[in-house]
Amino acid sequence: MNLLDIIYDGQAQYLQRAEEMVAKVVAEKGKETPVKFPGTAYALPCIYAITGKKITNVGELEEALALAKEYIHPAKTLQAGLDAGTASAMLAEIIEAVKFVYDPIPYKGRDAEDLNTADVRTLGFLPDAEVRSFGVALVTQDIPGVAVLIGEAPDSETLANVVKDYQQKGLLTFMVGKVIDQAIEQNIKMGVDLRVIPLGYEIESVIHVVSVAIRASLIFGATKPGDFLAHRTYTKDRVKAFVNVFGGWDNKIIAAGAAAIELGFPATVDKYINEVPTLLLYQPDYEKVVATSLEARGIKIKITEIDCPVSVSSAFEGERVRKDTMFAEFGGNRTPAWELVTSIDLADVEDHKITLIGPDIDDAMFEEGKTVRLPLGVLVEVAGKDMQADFETVLERRIHYFLNYVEGAMHVGQRNSSWIRLTKEAYGKGFRLKHIGEVLYAKMRDDFDKVVDKCQVTIYTNKEDVERLYAERAKPVYDKRDTRMAALTDDNVEEFYTCLLCQSFAPSHVCIVTPERLGLCGAVSWLDAKATKQLDPTGPNQPVVKGTAIDERLGIWDSVNEAVATNSQGAVESVTLYSILEDPMTSCGCFECICGIMPEANGVVIVNREHADITPVGMTFGELASMTGGGVQTPGFMGHGRQLLGSKKFMSAEGGLERIVWMPKALKDDVAERMNKAVKEMTGIDNFADMVCDETIAVDSEAVLEFLETKGHPALAMDPIM
Ligand code: SF4
Ligand code: NI
Ligand code: NI
Repeated sequence: MNLLDIIYDGQAQYLQRAEEMVAKVVAEKGKETPVKFPGTAYALPCIYAITGKKITNVGELEEALALAKEYIHPAKTLQAGLDAGTASAMLAEIIEAVKFVYDPIPYKGRDAEDLNTADVRTLGFLPDAEVRSFGVALVTQDIPGVAVLIGEAPDSETLANVVKDYQQKGLLTFMVGKVIDQAIEQNIKMGVDLRVIPLGYEIESVIHVVSVAIRASLIFGATKPGDFLAHRTYTKDRVKAFVNVFGGWDNKIIAAGAAAIELGFPATVDKYINEVPTLLLYQPDYEKVVATSLEARGIKIKITEIDCPVSVSSAFEGERVRKDTMFAEFGGNRTPAWELVTSIDLADVEDHKITLIGPDIDDAMFEEGKTVRLPLGVLVEVAGKDMQADFETVLERRIHYFLNYVEGAMHVGQRNSSWIRLTKEAYGKGFRLKHIGEVLYAKMRDDFDKVVDKCQVTIYTNKEDVERLYAERAKPVYDKRDTRMAALTDDNVEEFYTCLLCQSFAPSHVCIVTPERLGLCGAVSWLDAKATKQLDPTGPNQPVVKGTAIDERLGIWDSVNEAVATNSQGAVESVTLYSILEDPMTSCGCFECICGIMPEANGVVIVNREHADITPVGMTFGELASMTGGGVQTPGFMGHGRQLLGSKKFMSAEGGLERIVWMPKALKDDVAERMNKAVKEMTGIDNFADMVCDETIAVDSEAVLEFLETKGHPALAMDPIM
């Protein structure tokens, strides 16, 4: 068979299965039965993106079949073959959707606590929230690419080598088929957080990664549903995905491969096939699969050599260390712990000097089998000609990420609330405290090379030292910074910054970052932007010299409008910084929270990405977010960072924080302290958070209103919001 016949045959198999399944579900469940994937606002996302049609019930699946058939017109042209791939993708999505009609959780990994010990460990469909959670990391190239592994490698070790290689390089890896069992056999830790995602055993489940790519286009790219060419351009240019097929291919896999190629994703196979240059590649040597794939997709990886016995990669960032796997623990209220980055004179720093003062975790004083607990002071001293005191906090906050990158290490908190855990496994591989110094040294030098010329790290583990140096070195620096931060307001700085990082995904989106309004992803503060400008002068953060405001209440500046218009290529011409109703700032899609008006309460509802349930405005985070992403302005809705909930500038044009009437409890608990403080200073109201409703009190609009009335919530007495 030639390549095209293989594709047509595979496609025919999908068609047959889809037709049978649809006929069966129509007969057994009736046409009115709803069809949906959990946690998405995009109906059946692939079919929606390709055709513009939302499929919502069993009856409409018949229409979906007809839509898929429009792409079936076998001929001897490459495009006809690729169209058969597109049809296969739509048919696979139909097949998967039917599975969800029969069982709300067909992929049992969604129910499992730990994927590596669950009986059935597949995850299947990824809800919008998970797609969004990849947003910033994909944009910053923290996730440099997406690998899709299909089939079964000749042995599990071969598979593990490939997966670990991708993991070490920070890629997101999806698995379909027996490779999942092979990964488990090799103890590869899996989960969305760990960037190794077991989709399913049947080839059809591969549609769930296509769905991720397509939704990136819908969410971040604001690409119109139905404009398939635009979606293809988006995925080809912006989603660095590729496919590796192991253990030989069959016709269905090749038909799926044609769909991938149509989206711009190259595929490798280990059994000979007629190659399509740069797109379909024969690579029988498993040691070369990773290199071939990265090259085919144009993915370049920056590798830092670090003297450390365990892997250090952004893929390990989400890893948690539980009590039963823990070897050692520092801080977390059990022992005193702090971390400090401070800049000193060049002459006083000996580059790459790592010093441990006090016992290490293998010290003889520790009892065998008991968790090692030590006080910990981590002092990172840096020096550089272009180093500024303002950058210290930017560098210091990176400690959290750098230590989480360590395989087998978990870091929580910052400053003197830092909390570190190390696994027995890491200890077994030889990880000791000096390696914390090695990792921090290498990463500081690497990520901040423009401002850090020299760096030395000292680690203290004697209680007296940790306490004394906290008082002498750390506390005074923290206090000084706090005073400086409190004094930084939008009014007293000369410039704001643009952030264009998300343009790689949302081409018309521009963030304006100010001292009182950080980027909506929550990851870029005004100081971060300022430091990035220094580190990368032509990079994504450029100063916008404020000048005088046209309207102080709404927060309109000529300079800001100009910056937004230029950088969005004219897509957006004016924004306000302090209003949610008039020309609100655009949203790319990776916002931490979304704020929407609840007219009957005369206020706003806020929901964070992690909250999956419905809100009093009748929509979930995902549904609210689907109205505001992709760099478009949607008055009444706005994406923003968590931190903004402690800012006096939060929609100050409409009355500010006092307008908040509802938010999920977890979010409320997280921001209460700062929010209460800001509200108290502005209005004199004590404990404002207590007046804000949450899902444990009420979600239904009437009940929310009742609660607000009992509490005397200030929004009820304010001017009508709209
Ligand atoms: Fe994206 Fe805005 Fe965050 Fe920059 S500040 S990374 S543009 S969300
Ligand atoms: Ni880690
Ligand atoms: Ni973004």
